[in-house]
This record gives sequence, structure tokens and C-alpha cells, in this order.
Amino acid sequence: MNVAIVYHSVTGTTARLAEAVADGCHSVPEVTAALLRIEAADIEQGRYHNRTVINAIDRADAVIFGSPTFMGSVSAQFKAFADATAGEYWGEQLWADKIAAGFTVGTGYCGDTLHSLHYLQILAAQQGMLWAGLDLAGAGDRKAPNRLGAQAGVIVRAVDGAIETPDLHTAFYLGQRVARLVGRFRVVTTQIERVQQL
Ligand SMILES: Cc1cc2nc3c(=O)[nH]c(=O)nc-3n(C[C@H](O)[C@H](O)[C@H](O)COP(=O)(O)O)c2cc1C
Repeated sequence: MNVAIVYHSVTGTTARLAEAVADGCHSVPEVTAALLRIEAADIEQGRYHNRTVINAIDRADAVIFGSPTFMGSVSAQFKAFADATAGEYWGEQLWADKIAAGFTVGTGYCGDTLHSLHYLQILAAQQGMLWAGLDLAGAGDRKAPNRLGAQAGVIVRAVDGAIETPDLHTAFYLGQRVARLVGRFRVVTTQIERVQQL
């Protein structure tokens, strides 16, 4: 079972969160995670073209999207990647039923970062994916995971790239949660297939 973590990062903060998400995936037996960074060099005249990333998503059981929040939404580079998933991927819903989740980071206390998560949710919905949020009640404890209280996904506040430990734990938890869900999904799918063969 494998999870694709597709993310963009300019100064490395989102990249470090992606690594924490991958660590969370790897904490679940039989799950591997592939870190797939969206590179600006793969965008020409506004169009993203890296089949390696797209093909890795084809093979993945789940996809976790990550982007910094830039001007209240995902980065332009992440959006270029998302636009490249239109065409046959959207038209034929080739990624339908994959589990999806997301994370973002900004410097603002709010920073309109929730809008980035909502965009990632919409992207997943357009691709027929099943969104997994956080089953962590953010109760306002500044030292606990999900200290910022978002349940649509992971929101992190980091100034000058300094990620606080609870936020790294939240990112780890998201990866672990998605990996566990992939395992549960696999069991259910196998059971359904067995029943269909009776
Ligand atoms: C062009 C630009 C726009 C930004 N817009 C926002 C924003 O709307 N909200 C916010 O909280 N932070 C904003 N930031 C801060 C970044 O989200 C923050 O520095 C983030 O950690 C960068 O991630 P990275 O290190 O992975 O590139 C912006 C930064 C840049 C360069």
C-alpha cells in the first residue's frame, strides 16, 4: 500500500511538513510513502508537465496534497500541477475512490490558510477522491496536536520556517491517519471482492 505526498515548497517549510507526513505514513506497517515535490522547473509557459509525479499518483492508494498559502490560496506552482490533472484524469475520473488529505502553512495567525485547505478539498472532490480530515478535536491547547483547531486538514503557522513541535506532530498524525485508512479500505475492498466471488 502506498501514499503519494504531492507538495510544493519554496523555502522548505512545506517540505519539512511533507517529511513529517511521510514519517507518519511509514509508522503504519506495510505502507510506503513517496515524497513528490512540485518543481518550478517542471512548469513551462504556465503548464506543468512531469509525468513521473502524475504516474506516481496513478499507482497510489492515497494522495496527500501540500502547499504553502500564498495570497490566501495554494501557490501558483501547486495550481499549475492541479490544472495538469484536468483532461483525462478529471474527464474519466481516473483517481476516483483514492483517499485524499491536505496540509498547508502560512505566517499569519489566520493568514486565510483554511482557504488553501478548502481548495485542496475541492481538487480532491473534482477527482472523485474521498477526503480524510483530522479526527483531532482542536481544543485550544497550544502544546497539543491540532493546536490551531482545523479539522479539514493540517494548518501550520510558521514564521521564518520555524515549525513548532505540536504542528510537526499534527503533520505526522495526518500521515498516520491516512495510512491507517488505506489499510482499512483495503480490508473492506478485499471482503467485498470475496463476497462478489461467492
Ligand atoms: C508571495 C507570498 C504570499 C504569501 N501569502 C501568505 C498568506 O496569504 N497567508 C499566510 O499566512 N502566509 C503567507 N505567506 C507566507 C508563506 O505561506 C510562508 O512563508 C510559508 O512558510 C512558505 O512555505 P515554504 O517555506 O514551503 O515555501 C506568503 C508568502 C509569500 C512569499
